[in-house]
Amino acid sequence: MSECRICKSSLHKIISFGKMPIANAFLEESQFSSEHFFELACGYCEKCFMFQLIDQPTPEIMFHDEYAFFSQTSKHMCNHFEGVANKLISLTREDPFIVEIGCNDGIMLKHVASKNIRHLGIEPSGNVAKIANSHGVSTVSEFFNSSTADTILSKNGTADIIYSANVMCHIPDIPDLALGVVNLLSDDGRLIFEDPYLGDILEKTSYDQIYDEHVYLFSLHSVSQAFGAVGLELINCEHLDTHGGSMRYTLAKSGVYPVSSNVRQYLDYERRLGVNRIDPYVEFRNNCERSKKALRQLLQQLKENGHKVAGYAATSKSTTILNYCGIDSSLIDYITDTTPIKQGKFSPGMHIPIVPATHFSESPPDYAFLFAWNHLKEIMAKESNFDGNWITHVPEVNIFQGELA
Ligand code: TYD
Repeated sequence: MSECRICKSSLHKIISFGKMPIANAFLEESQFSSEHFFELACGYCEKCFMFQLIDQPTPEIMFHDEYAFFSQTSKHMCNHFEGVANKLISLTREDPFIVEIGCNDGIMLKHVASKNIRHLGIEPSGNVAKIANSHGVSTVSEFFNSSTADTILSKNGTADIIYSANVMCHIPDIPDLALGVVNLLSDDGRLIFEDPYLGDILEKTSYDQIYDEHVYLFSLHSVSQAFGAVGLELINCEHLDTHGGSMRYTLAKSGVYPVSSNVRQYLDYERRLGVNRIDPYVEFRNNCERSKKALRQLLQQLKENGHKVAGYAATSKSTTILNYCGIDSSLIDYITDTTPIKQGKFSPGMHIPIVPATHFSESPPDYAFLFAWNHLKEIMAKESNFDGNWITHVPEVNIFQGELA
């Protein structure tokens, strides 16, 4: 039996998605034979309530100088992070110091930098860190941990805000990170982070949020336990529509701020959902298997009827769907994506060609599988000329028309 990464209790294996490649490792044909695979499986800890990956490839295999995810590919996300920057600034006093763990291409911090506010982005993927730098964002290309935190502290003093978006759930050694955070934060500082929310994942069967990078699927229950261990208290939470349903958690040193009523409300919701018991996870596994069967049946039927199906957006999430459901280029002709570094390459594991957006408009399919379902509104507005059908798998496998979205 494996052990919980947080509290070291034994972990209950819930689901295996089988042999899985690295979600963002889009590759060339010459690399097919050396592709890295691991078993993507999740376990649940009954003691600290953390739903987590059992095995995770080493960070250096996932985050490097050819990392293929750039935050600024979505307009909606650009607006979201400009709003975050303004909100963080409004929470601080004179001469604040704002640190972001995993600043990616500087999508949020560039708005802090442009106001000449002291800041630092920690971004281990060198290529995206360079882009952040080019936007005037001070960055260090390293992994955040207790020792990086000590270095930042000695060079800059304490941080008023430590922020992170869609990054905390990537970091396996949360106990060490939490130690770094608590040492770096000022006495009235806040740790604010947002990640895909377990409640949405269970309710929508959005199993595609599970891939190598997402080592944790957080809930209020598990976040309180993991950070409570170093004396950080959950003082607020806000549900967000990003990434198909996320939660923003605010934590501070125990007793410094009152706990908002949102925290109590969401803890109640989680108890009703049962995130603190094993049975909803078993039900999730059954729902994933049902979803896989329905999706394969639909795609096979469309193919038998002579329809052309394409994928829309080569998301990290699509790697889990394609490999778990065994969907290759015999069922999906191509995947269109706006990210130049992905174009001309092949999808991890299933090796479906990735093509630019022009290909989608010039050679439209009869059906487009919306892998970026979390960007539904933005994509429907952009693709109003597409008169084929859309396919989604959340919350159920379904076909829909663009104008109905
Ligand atoms: P996202 O859901 O953020 O991806 P992930 O699952 O990796 O977190 O979607 C980002 C990807 O979707 C990125 O490869 C760009 C692509 N994309 C498009 O191709 N067209 C679009 O209109 C949008 C919004 C995204």
